[in-house]
Amino acid sequence: MKYKIIGFIVVVIIVIQFVPYGRNHLNPPVVAEPRWDSAKTRELFFRACGDCHSNETTWPGYSNIAPVSWLVQYDVHQGRKEFNVSMWGVQKENEGDESIETIEKGEMPPWFYVILHPEARISGNEKTDFMKGLLATFGKGDDDNEHGEDDSD
Ligand code: HEC
Repeated sequence: MKYKIIGFIVVVIIVIQFVPYGRNHLNPPVVAEPRWDSAKTRELFFRACGDCHSNETTWPGYSNIAPVSWLVQYDVHQGRKEFNVSMWGVQKENEGDESIETIEKGEMPPWFYVILHPEARISGNEKTDFMKGLLATFGKGDDDNEHGEDDSD
């Protein structure tokens, strides 16, 4: 019985590898970037955010293996949709000015990403510089929808 279950799991794992979703890791071209306030801001951004908010995604080995590949694909797709520093001024949707807020709230970069990419954890002086740089580059969101949410958590 035990071996049947293991055999079944192995077969399922093999079969799901043939699902096409999450297998295309061809990055779209870089069309236009924001005017970064400094090279340092850009560097920190690509260290902590670029995999999901640019077209210069580095696809790790595990991103080729389902079902992890599906999750990675989904995150990159959603991340680029929110704002994409490789499509600056070209893509309409641009939540970049909420970056500082997402960092303050600890929402970005996502916790599971930081576990897999420890270099994405930016803290101390670097964090202060990073926040200043993001403000100078993206500005701060004054989206009305965001107001009033401040005390909710
Ligand atoms: C692992 C992929 C990933 C990384 C790395 C990442 N993001 Fe995101 N980001 C997402 C996804 C997915 C969404 C959309 C869904 C959501 O809000 O969780 C998002 C949404 C956002 C938004 C839109 C507002 C919002 O709350 O939805 C902002 C702003 C943002 N990210 C900023 C950043 C910044 C700044 C960094 C780096 C410090 C970063 N992200 C790193 C995946 C990522």
